[in-house]
This record gives sequence, structure tokens and C-alpha cells, in this order.
Amino acid sequence: MDRLLIDGGAVLSGELRASGAKNSALKMFAAALLADEPVTISNVPHLRDITTMIELLGSLGVEVVIDEKMNIEIHANTITSFKAPYELVKTMRASFNVLGPLLAHYGQAEVSLPGGCAIGPRPVDQHLRGLEALGARINMSDGYVRASADSGLKGGHVVFDFRTVGGTEHIMMAACLADGVTILENCAREPEIVDLASFLNKMGARVEGAGEDVISITGVESMGGCSHKVIADRVEAGTYLIAAAATGGKIKVKDINAMHLESVLDKLREAGASIKADHDSIELEMSGHRPKAVSLVTAPYPDYPTDLQAQIMALNCVAEGTGRITETIFENRFMHVHEMNRMGARIKLDSNNTSAVIEGVSCLKGAPVMANDLRASVSLVIAGLVADGQTIIDRIYHIDRGYEQIEEKLQNLGAQIKRLES
Ligand code: UD1
Repeated sequence: MDRLLIDGGAVLSGELRASGAKNSALKMFAAALLADEPVTISNVPHLRDITTMIELLGSLGVEVVIDEKMNIEIHANTITSFKAPYELVKTMRASFNVLGPLLAHYGQAEVSLPGGCAIGPRPVDQHLRGLEALGARINMSDGYVRASADSGLKGGHVVFDFRTVGGTEHIMMAACLADGVTILENCAREPEIVDLASFLNKMGARVEGAGEDVISITGVESMGGCSHKVIADRVEAGTYLIAAAATGGKIKVKDINAMHLESVLDKLREAGASIKADHDSIELEMSGHRPKAVSLVTAPYPDYPTDLQAQIMALNCVAEGTGRITETIFENRFMHVHEMNRMGARIKLDSNNTSAVIEGVSCLKGAPVMANDLRASVSLVIAGLVADGQTIIDRIYHIDRGYEQIEEKLQNLGAQIKRLES
């Protein structure tokens, strides 16, 4: 297994380009199953999760053509199977989202229940309830969901119990080919949902209201081909900005819409960063200062994202003062805490494991560490950057699921980091 070796102490400085958003691209790959013609998706990041999704489409008999710039052309009409097997779905929860498009287009689907990061049970009840509201018949056995809609899906009314990103996207996709109008209420409002809706509309769907509480979808008979460029990855961009702030550095992230990161930029300003931002770049400068501790509660967009919780905790570890971080989206998303404490951080978890109080120390100490999920692993990279001495991070296949060329990007910003191949 590859590991990352970091010699701490560098102050990050320079420029980088944000990659395309994995969480947008993955859903578009599923949505491509709705079309009768080829679709082309560009600005797709080169990541393990993307490769898994391509393998999944391949296992359905769907032809996927990739060029050297990662433009991905998907021909759903070559499909030969409607079964997404456990081996592929278990590694990535987003692959569960092929269920709705298969069902909407072909009237049948069999998809394994998902796996994904080890962050809580992550059920799919909202997805299944939504599909049932559109007339799907659903059975579950042997770890598989078997769904059918012999005479097609019908428009319906769904009120989600809470804002779910995957649930909103899943039912929004399925409703595109349903007969009649579907109204979705209490929807998640993440930028990736707006991006997916724009992709669906280019394919001929009639989706209105994405990014708001209520989404309405007027079903169409068929969907065609299109080309679409995926939006930039706000979580990746946010990770580099937090890393730069933690090291007292100065960086510019290009090709990122600052509106997608407002809650994060507010926290970085509170930590002492001066920030200049517009529709396609963000510049952050700490002028060599130690960050000030920040407190926050994760919540659905536009509030502070759970996917940047672990990273800002790494910043708090070396900040001046004490901060409290409360996680409300996922259970068991503090797996980085024990590893950070092994590096000399002073973090205390409350008895429910939902809040952490972080008392800043002037410096962490390098150590061998590992983590069991994507964002926790990358937070240890930030901890390694601000630590004295060497940090070796094990199990970095988690990082490879979501960060394109992380060591190259950080090296270009002046970090001492390299991959140790096994
Ligand atoms: C997506 C993102 C993930 C991010 C998360 C929250 C992708 C591929 N992943 O995940 O990076 O951290 O949004 O911003 O886009 N839940 C249920 N029942 C359901 C659905 C969800 O109980 O049917 C729970 C989940 O267990 C979790 C919470 O709701 O505790 C939020 O989940 P959701 O918003 O659906 O996240 P994902 O779409 O899985």
C-alpha cells in the first residue's frame, strides 16, 4: 500500500488549479444512463472513485470512451445488463445512484446496497421512499435492491425527511423520464445538484428549482446526447486553502467559484486570513501569522460542509486559542482525532462523539498515522505539513479516491511531500 511522507514546516505559497468536482461527475455518469444518445462529460478528475464508476458502467455493457484529457463519452444504448454488483457498489456509495436512472429508462434494476467511507451506517431510506413515490416496486434481499416499474415511472410528490444530497439527486434523475410532474420538497441545495440539473436539462430534461428547497421535474419521453463541463471541486479547493492558512502561507486557487465556498471563506477570515475572491479564483494570505481558533457546526449547504470538517480541525490544532467543532451530518466522522492527538494535538471529544474541543498548540510533532476515510486522511496531510519532523501517512488509497495529484499540487506550493510506493 502506498504511503505519503511529509517533512513538516514549509509555508505553502503559489498557485494551483482546482480539479473538476468528483461529486458532480459521479452523478452525471449515472445520469448518462437516461440518454438514448452518447453524452460527453469534461473536466472529470482522474481519481479512483471515477475509475470505479467507469468500471460499473462497463459491467452494465455501457461503452465508455476516455480521451487523454479525461473527456468521457458514454453510450448508454449499448447496455446489456441492469445489475450493479456488490464488488463495485461496496467501494463507493455514489454508485447506488445508477438504480433510479436504470429503472426510469429500462423499467428494471438490481443494485447492491452501498458501502463507501466508513462514516456511519449511511442508509438509503430516502432514496427508496422517493422511488416508491414515483411508482417503483422495490424488494430487498441478499443485500440487493431489486426495483421494477413495468409501465414506467409516474410523476409524484416527495417530501424528504431531511436534506440529503444523494437522495435529492437520485430522485431528480429518476423523475426526468417519469410520466407527469414530480415535486420534490426539502431538497438539498449543494452546487453539485445545480450542476447535475444543468446537465440533465442539456440532455432534454425539464428540471426547475435545483439549488432551492423545492425542485419540480416535468417528465419527458426521451433524453438525448449533450456535452457538459463539470464544475470545480469546492472541497478540494477548500482543502488547499485551509492547508495554506494553517501553514501561514499565501496561495491562489484558480478555476473555482468563490460563491460555492462562502461559509468556509468566512471561517478562514475569522482565522485571520485575508481573502480576495471572485467567480473564478480565490487568493488567501496569512502573512506568516499563526491562525486563530474557529468554532463551527457542520450542516447542509450553504452552511459549513462536513467534507471540510477534518481539515479545519487540523488548522485548529495549531491555532491560537480554543475552538469547538460539531458534526451534524455523519456519525463517526472524527476518526482523525486520535491520530492528531498522537501528533501532539489537544483535542477532547464529548461523550456522544458529536463535538470536539480543540485547544491549539504551537506545533504538532510528526508521527506515523493512518485514517479510514477520505477527508480524515487528507486532514492528516495538513497536520503533517504543520508538524515538526516527519509524518508518514498510511492507507492513502482513501486520499486517491478524492484528491487528484495531491503530492504534485502540494510540491508546487513548496511542501516537502512524496509518495512511498509499496
Ligand atoms: C454526499 C457527498 C459527500 C458529502 C455528503 C454531505 C457525494 C458522492 N458524496 O454524500 O461527500 O459528505 O453528501 O454533504 O456526493 N441519509 C439517510 N438516508 C438516506 C440518505 C442519507 O439516513 O436515504 C443520511 C446519511 O447517512 C448521512 C446524511 O443523511 O448521515 C447525509 O447524507 P447525504 O446528504 O445523502 O450524503 P451523500 O449523498 O451520501
